[in-house]
Amino acid sequence: MKPIPLYSPKIGNVEKRNVTNCLNEKWISSKGKFIKLFENEFKKFTNIRHCTTTVNGTAALHLCLLALDIKENDEIIVPTFTYIASVNCIKYVGGKPVFVDSDFSTMQISINDIEKKISKKTKAIIVPHLYGYSCDLSKLLKLKKKYNVYLVEDCAEALGSFYKKKHLGNFGDICAFSFFGSKTISTGEGGMVCSNNKFLIRKVINFKGQGLNVTNKKKYYWHNVIGYNYRMTNICASIGYAQIKRISKILKKKKFIFNFYKKNLNSKYVKFPSEVIGLNNCYWLVVIFFQSKKINQIINKTLYKNKIETRPTFYPIHTMPMYKKKNNFKNAIQLNNLGLCLPSYPDLENKQLKKICKIINDYFKKFK
Ligand SMILES: Cc1ncc(COP(=O)(O)O)c(C=O)c1O
Repeated sequence: MKPIPLYSPKIGNVEKRNVTNCLNEKWISSKGKFIKLFENEFKKFTNIRHCTTTVNGTAALHLCLLALDIKENDEIIVPTFTYIASVNCIKYVGGKPVFVDSDFSTMQISINDIEKKISKKTKAIIVPHLYGYSCDLSKLLKLKKKYNVYLVEDCAEALGSFYKKKHLGNFGDICAFSFFGSKTISTGEGGMVCSNNKFLIRKVINFKGQGLNVTNKKKYYWHNVIGYNYRMTNICASIGYAQIKRISKILKKKKFIFNFYKKNLNSKYVKFPSEVIGLNNCYWLVVIFFQSKKINQIINKTLYKNKIETRPTFYPIHTMPMYKKKNNFKNAIQLNNLGLCLPSYPDLENKQLKKICKIINDYFKKFK
């Protein structure tokens, strides 16, 4: 059997046609019809009022913090259990990451720990909706209100996830998506900043386009802030436009994949994260938990020997050299020790899924 990758984007004929169209018409940089088409289709799907494309998800997060005017020494609460970009973006603007632990069962930011760490210096909370799951957003919104802080939703892994029927990204002040090759829809590299606040998105557009003064379009080469070149190309947007149009099919298949693993993996030894009430999960990557780090390592090795690619869950960021902290974030460490991400891409075939489940289940047969 051929190797099974962790992820592989689904590329159809429409994507190929759209890219050819960009090449034929020579609209290959960040101007061209597909940018607006993609942004408008994204707005329709997420129901977030203002959306603007970016070069990747990390740039999108950086732009969120620039738009909120996060500055030197502003404290930003962020979980240590997340992807590195959710934390690096704080440093890009000179802010101070204040790490919090996560809930083990949901893998998401711990609201209890936020309450312990929040202070007058806190300017914002970054909430990454990891693996498509979410925390109890109703509780988080109460905290946001009580302490009057900004909420940035890192939706890089959450396209297609809804909480109480609203797409994630609608709850905070501003949010960022990623369209890396392994994401639910992909543009190769790419991202999107979205907000229901048009002033924030205006600032994002200003910053992403070299600080060009967008209100005075006639005055060329006039820049009113120090900006960045964080624009998406028309080629990337043409792929994104094709993908977002058939996202419901992609999500259906991902739900099927999750349910297949859930039904077929031995539930005595393999656990799944829990979902908060009100969440409709996109199941970006299927995460499972074993009872010990040792078992996790053995099963991971066996899968690799069988040419099945996996990923560990994130290493807590406070353990990395640039962010080293002595605190003991016990759940974050356990999440990394016990968790494993399984192949979850839409083209996975049933026989491949069966093979993965069989290899995992076979390991536990000896415990009977
Ligand atoms: C939670 C999270 N935040 C941010 C990012 C950054 O996105 P990108 O890789 O597009 O820069 C990613 C994706 O890789 C992610 O998983």
